[in-house]
Amino acid sequence: MAQALYRPELGYYERAAGRIGRGGDFYTSVSVGSVFGELLARRFAAWLGQIPGERLLILEAGAHDGRLAADILSALRKLAPDPARRIGYGLLEPSPQRREWQAQTLREFADRVTWYASLNELPPSSVAGVIFGNEFLDALPVHRLGWDAPARRWFEWRVGWAGQRFCWVRPPRSATGDTLAAPLAEALQTEFGDWLRPALLAALPDGYTLEVRPAATAWWRQAAKVLRAGWLVAIDYGFTTAEALRPERTQGTARAYARHRYADDLLAAPGEQDLTAHVNFTPLIAAGEAAGLTTEGLSSQASFLVATAEAAGEVETFGRWKPAQRRQFQTLVHPAHLGERFKVLVQSRSAR
Ligand SMILES: C[S@@+](CC[C@H](N)C(=O)[O-])C[C@H]1O[C@@H](n2cnc3c(N)ncnc32)[C@H](O)[C@@H]1O
Repeated sequence: MAQALYRPELGYYERAAGRIGRGGDFYTSVSVGSVFGELLARRFAAWLGQIPGERLLILEAGAHDGRLAADILSALRKLAPDPARRIGYGLLEPSPQRREWQAQTLREFADRVTWYASLNELPPSSVAGVIFGNEFLDALPVHRLGWDAPARRWFEWRVGWAGQRFCWVRPPRSATGDTLAAPLAEALQTEFGDWLRPALLAALPDGYTLEVRPAATAWWRQAAKVLRAGWLVAIDYGFTTAEALRPERTQGTARAYARHRYADDLLAAPGEQDLTAHVNFTPLIAAGEAAGLTTEGLSSQASFLVATAEAAGEVETFGRWKPAQRRQFQTLVHPAHLGERFKVLVQSRSAR
């Protein structure tokens, strides 16, 4: 997944900026229009107003072509003029190619924006403000684990090459029978822990597949440590561990997308299709709390954005919104569109 999405020059997210939106492979809340960024800007401005007296940073991960950053910065300029330049905007971006796209989109905000290749460039407790990502965590690589029912143990699905194409390979049972590498066993425990009780395991069919997401959990843990004061936010599709183990989900949630359709074969056309898997919010909540954050809520995008609009007094002025803005809002919050599919996890650390 890491190679197919991020390998320089060949990876899906390295080769063309226009992957997202009507002409690309999938929609995000950002590609719906600028209302999403405007509402986030309102929410962030209200939050940042609660942190007294220090320099603040809005730090975005997975900013892709910089569209959402531009929408947020434009809205903030109108909403909360900041002549003292207290608020900076950071982009977490390992890829030089994407930095270039982002710098172009954000030309007019060049004096506000700083790039960081990863969280490693930010010491612990160095950020006061908001750290967030929209559809970022679902794009981090996952491991697919399968259940070996006769042997009653998990194995990792591997990728092989046969007949001029990639294929899934179930590893042979080793002499010791111990087929899961220690970091994956640990990730399985972190994400599914007590849920994988003997009675449940006994009911799983041979080959039942789920994902573990150690990269997402590690990222969240590190972001929580970097946050001295403020909010850590993930907007993404996903579930909790309890929902992850539905019996009908026998093949997990990893999916490929191309031209607005699910593509069945995750391994087909690497670099040509997006790959993604549901975010499991349960280990993120635990990792943030272990780092001292308070969980403010895990809600649907609909309730998060409606509450944001209400708090900003937008609902009373709704009648004055332009029809295009109203349509965007409906797409963002309607259950049949993006309102229920996307969830918002908010954790915080108080400024004191
Ligand atoms: C599904 S896209 C989301 C794009 C955008 N946030 C939006 O909502 O339209 C995921 C993005 O995360 C980026 N990404 C992946 N790994 C990353 C990492 N370690 N740090 C920062 N960005 C990363 C990908 O390149 C891609 O642009």
